Amino acid sequence: MKIGVLTSGGDAPGMNAAVRAVVRTALSKGMEVYGIRRGYVGLITGDIVPMDEKSVTDIIHNGGTILYTARCPEFRTAEGVAKAKAKCDELGIEGLVVIGGDGSFRGAADLSAMGMLTVGIPGTIDNDIACTDYTIGYDTAMNTAMELVDKLRDTSQSHDRISVVEVMGRGAGHIAVNTGVACGATDIITKEVPYSLDEIAKTMLEKKSRGKQNFVVIVAESIGNSQQIAEILQEKTGIEARATVLGHVQRGGSPTVRDRVEATRMGHYAVELLEQGKGNRVVGIKDSKIVDYDIQEALSMSKPYDVELHKMAEQIAF
Ligand code: ADP
Ligand code: F6P
Repeated sequence: MKIGVLTSGGDAPGMNAAVRAVVRTALSKGMEVYGIRRGYVGLITGDIVPMDEKSVTDIIHNGGTILYTARCPEFRTAEGVAKAKAKCDELGIEGLVVIGGDGSFRGAADLSAMGMLTVGIPGTIDNDIACTDYTIGYDTAMNTAMELVDKLRDTSQSHDRISVVEVMGRGAGHIAVNTGVACGATDIITKEVPYSLDEIAKTMLEKKSRGKQNFVVIVAESIGNSQQIAEILQEKTGIEARATVLGHVQRGGSPTVRDRVEATRMGHYAVELLEQGKGNRVVGIKDSKIVDYDIQEALSMSKPYDVELHKMAEQIAF
């Protein structure tokens, strides 16, 4: 059997570990494996290279993706999907492992509808894929955010300031709430839980009167406006405030143990599915166990936000 592997959408630390697992598992089963560069772009243009054992040596500890990644508007069209399928047929590629997010899985479903065996692996720092408890890159991104907020706390403390820190997460507050808890933030602002800047400012002043001198506020990217939030809090409290947007630094760096292990498990399992002739599936992790779902079913699920964790953080913050 010949299979391909690609990474698509935003990169995430641990994608290389997944690529390595896919390639080595496939080779161990006597399959031929191709690496497709820059996601669906490479599938359309034919930027496809054979992978051997050595091609994935010394990558498990590296962030980013050796296969590169991209967003490919052409693949959203029927013509684009047909071109990609034709390229696979030309090379005899029957199965495809797609490492990416929901958008990439929609593309995989389109290819499935044309007769390709496709399996998705959740790879995004946002952890916003509903069919899995965990997405590759999430743990590393949160650890990076935590380390950076710890550094900001030092300077915020020295200056008796409010530090408003915006973390990534596109539409979801999972990174924000966990980083907030891990950093002992005074406030966490996400779109999933209603908030009032008036209330936050009032509470800050109460805490100040009880001796608190500096404040760390974590804001989810989906809220945005962290600069404006800092200005409003400064105006309402009279405490100097600074905003910091952590940005793409959260997407880089050497993957943590968790990311390497889960990426390896999911990569291995994806190839087993293809070997069994199963396609149109998404791999996930539920209650620490590897699971797989039909892509459409996976895309129709919704992921709960941990409101309890958010409220708990607020309850114990000072
Ligand atoms: P992610 O996979 O992280 O959600 P994107 O939403 O940017 O990232 O999607 C990555 C790529 O997947 C897109 O550039 C496009 O090529 C493909 N894709 C996204 N949405 C669709 C869709 N609805 N149909 C087909 N392909 C899609
Ligand atoms: O999906 C991962 C992510 O890093 C989001 O958290 C963020 O909103 C987005 O990608 C940024 O995308 P880009 O790399 O295109 O700026």
